[in-house]
Amino acid sequence: MDGNKAEAAGSDALVLYGVTGDLAHKMIFPALYSLAKRGELGVPVVGVASSNWSQAQLRKRATDSISASAGGIDDRPALRRLLALLDYVQGNYQDPHTFGALKRALGAARHPAHYLAIPPALFAAVIQGLGAAGLAAGARVIVEKPFGRDLASARELNSVARSVFPEDAIFRIDHFLAKEAIMNILYFRFANSFLEPIWNRNYIASVQLTLAEDFGVKGRGAFYESAGCLRDVIQNHLFQIVALLAMEPPAYRGFGAVHGESADVFQAMRPLRPEDLVRGQYAGYRREPGVAAGSDVETYCALRLYIDSWRWEGVPWYLRSGKYLAGRAAEVIVQLKPPPQRLFADSAPANGASNYLRFRLSPNSAVALAARVKRAGKAFVGEQRELYLVDERPGEEAPYARLLGDAMAGNGALFTREDAVEAAWAVVDPVLKTHHRVQPYKRGSWGPKAADALIAAHGSWKNPGFTDAAAD
Ligand code: BG6
Repeated sequence: MDGNKAEAAGSDALVLYGVTGDLAHKMIFPALYSLAKRGELGVPVVGVASSNWSQAQLRKRATDSISASAGGIDDRPALRRLLALLDYVQGNYQDPHTFGALKRALGAARHPAHYLAIPPALFAAVIQGLGAAGLAAGARVIVEKPFGRDLASARELNSVARSVFPEDAIFRIDHFLAKEAIMNILYFRFANSFLEPIWNRNYIASVQLTLAEDFGVKGRGAFYESAGCLRDVIQNHLFQIVALLAMEPPAYRGFGAVHGESADVFQAMRPLRPEDLVRGQYAGYRREPGVAAGSDVETYCALRLYIDSWRWEGVPWYLRSGKYLAGRAAEVIVQLKPPPQRLFADSAPANGASNYLRFRLSPNSAVALAARVKRAGKAFVGEQRELYLVDERPGEEAPYARLLGDAMAGNGALFTREDAVEAAWAVVDPVLKTHHRVQPYKRGSWGPKAADALIAAHGSWKNPGFTDAAAD
């Protein structure tokens, strides 16, 4: 995606709220390191948190984080450059003195980027603190997900953010938008001409998306209790994928056109009803630290969604995601309708899967087109094959490095817009409170059986092929 018209000034400092936290440790320091390695980080990085840390402690934490990350420390000069940029301000986000101290630490910087890697309950306090301290003018704010926990709180947060920052200075993170395989959906759809004629209700029978994880809440029980799978990954990550698959062609090159089309998809989604949803909970979740003994929070969710638009009327979209499932992969299957007549006895297999387009999104990136081809012999009998169009083991830039670099450069292409976030919440809002109870499922399974009934009218779930050539 190209940028929008105005070339924005680069941020001249990065302020990292929650610098002592988990997100900074797992994602942000490694992302800053990879920017430093590429020579794309030359501005002060001021960490803010409530702990009484010294500069040395902060540097040690950054070093530990980078050495524990995938590539480890493989460029000592880059690490030294990064550590030399770090500074630390201790303070409580409710306290105006914190922002005074921050102002002094920022010195001559006029266009800082404020990155809120903190619990969502603190977003509003920091944004208001920045406004009151005069630290918002000419600045940007980067907000981690979840952006709100329902429609009302998202609206409230948007209104706080908009009372202090203009929309083009607010960068709402959904890191799935910065994954290569997901960006490829947009590219693949609109850089080719063969797809558009069949990309609609006349040729597509259904679409299914699976985001499967083979691990649990990983110590984030308390967070999960306040979120659940629907809020954690469906309203944002999976919905963003649906938007890229379902959107109308953007009318112009600037990313504003993509944002507009994607917001329209959320607007056209039919609000969910309890019967559109199967909620599951893995065995043992209630014994995780921070989890209530009688918790009804879902660690798995499957749903049936409709997009009431000219293009998609009547096409069901099936989405599912869960922790502790039988494998770790993300995949989309766009199921095409069968041929109008069954000329060959085997041409419409019982599961109806003869022609589909498969986007493999993780752990590797692939696009495959499934078709039947005749086997050699007298009989007109064939087999299902997949034509691989793309199959990459990406040397991809980590999403957080991409997003941080983009936000600091003022490029909002891979971030979400106010109206889109609210429209997506409006779809799930009815079932956040009114829903059926969770159904237990075994760890290492594909979730509760009831999810099979949800999709039964249109076939069955296609579990990502963990054994296919592209998956190992
Ligand atoms: C995060 C969720 O946003 O996305 C996690 O909070 C989830 O629960 C993660 O595991 C998945 O993202 P990725 O990039 O690790 O596949």
